[in-house]
Amino acid sequence: MTLHPATDSLLPTVDPAPETLHVAVIGAGKAGTAVARSLLDAGYRVSVSASGDPARLELMIDFVTPGAEPKWTHDAVAEADLVILALPLHRLHTIDPALLAGRVVVDTMNYWPPVDGEIPAFRAGDRPSSEVVQDMFPGAAVVKTFSHTGYHHLEPDRRPAGHPERRGLAVAGNQPGAVALVSALVDRIGYDPVCVDSLAGTGFLQPGGPAFGARLTAAQLSELAGAAASAA
Ligand SMILES: NC(=O)c1ccc[n+]([C@@H]2O[C@H](COP(=O)([O-])OP(=O)(O)OC[C@H]3O[C@@H](n4cnc5c(N)ncnc54)[C@H](OP(=O)(O)O)[C@@H]3O)[C@@H](O)[C@H]2O)c1
Repeated sequence: MTLHPATDSLLPTVDPAPETLHVAVIGAGKAGTAVARSLLDAGYRVSVSASGDPARLELMIDFVTPGAEPKWTHDAVAEADLVILALPLHRLHTIDPALLAGRVVVDTMNYWPPVDGEIPAFRAGDRPSSEVVQDMFPGAAVVKTFSHTGYHHLEPDRRPAGHPERRGLAVAGNQPGAVALVSALVDRIGYDPVCVDSLAGTGFLQPGGPAFGARLTAAQLSELAGAAASAA
């Protein structure tokens, strides 16, 4: 797989500090709003978009994600340093790959046939869904995280660094710089990032996998990641 050359050259210039990093969350449903609130709490500037006119989001955002900025998807992405995809997988084909070229893109999505229907590329079964997402957006550096925790657990499970009950979140990707950037966000939100060095190794995070919905410490999650890597 060839990544857009701009992706690597942009990475060192992206500063993970909340004062400077602007995040676009695409998808204003259960997962997208929970991620957006967590980022806002950590001090990040956050834009949120859904499938249509941002004016339709304003009231909901005032109540559900106060502080986020509703935008058209195109504008949210254009103005952001980092993009988070939190829309259903069956809607992903509506996002123009050119829009995400040269970007670090967080994939929070799971393939869920009762919601997504049967999608042949994802149904194949022997490739994790994030690898397919990376193929769909060859110019982006895709990083998988947030996908294996329920939206209703994301905020209550946050803990400060060093807390004995702090949980882990896997952060997986093919590009170390992109994984490091997203890991810094995960840490600031309130989780220990557990780095997985390829999207190919993310099957254990998916629905039906041992980490999905499991609410684990970083040590427990690392053990599962190691077992998955050994089995591959
Ligand atoms: N729910 C969870 O606990 C959870 C946890 C982790 C990961 N996830 C994953 O996150 C993804 C979203 O799940 P969800 O539960 O948040 O779904 P949801 O509550 O149904 O929300 C979906 C959101 O995506 C938006 N959307 C749809 N098409 C879009 C498009 N073309 N462009 C921009 N936004 C679009 C929808 O906006 P409109 O209403 O305008 O269409 C809606 O705001 C899924 O892949 C899911 O597997 C979910």
